[in-house]
Amino acid sequence: MSLLPIIEIPDPVLRAQSAPVERVDDELRRLIADMFDTMYAAPGIGLAAVQLAIPRRLFIIDLQDPEEEGGEPVKKPLVFINPEILTSSDETNVYNEGCLSIPDQYAEVERPASVRARWLDADGKQQEGEVDGLLATCFQHETDHLNGILFIDHISRLRRDMVLKKLTKLRKENKNLVA
Ligand code: NI
Repeated sequence: MSLLPIIEIPDPVLRAQSAPVERVDDELRRLIADMFDTMYAAPGIGLAAVQLAIPRRLFIIDLQDPEEEGGEPVKKPLVFINPEILTSSDETNVYNEGCLSIPDQYAEVERPASVRARWLDADGKQQEGEVDGLLATCFQHETDHLNGILFIDHISRLRRDMVLKKLTKLRKENKNLVA
């Protein structure tokens, strides 16, 4: 198990355009395994390679089914390589979004409620399908990462300034605890 460091704002790599993945091979699958270890440990429900300072068009999602009484959450790992959004619904959804690269900050973001998308799976096979609900929001949030876009870019300037101010304050407090 390998945990990789997650980069945070204002790291400029988060603003990079990720490059397409050229080959789905064992090396890439090792990176994907490390990405899952890192995401589960964080914990988070989505992680793009660029958040590990690897600007390649690849992200993973695991929404994890709600745990049954007394049981562990059921893992449902999903891998999306070179994803493309083909069409988006006019209908929208609002979710309270967070991001491992903007720790402990959340804001309501409005996005298309469903998207039709195409991607390669971990075997390099092309997949196409409609995603909706929380998965659609997560898919769009992660696709944004591949284009250097963060969820705070979708909210008002006032809300964004509040989020950034709270994050600065939180980081200061954390520093004081360590000192
Ligand atoms: Ni994110």
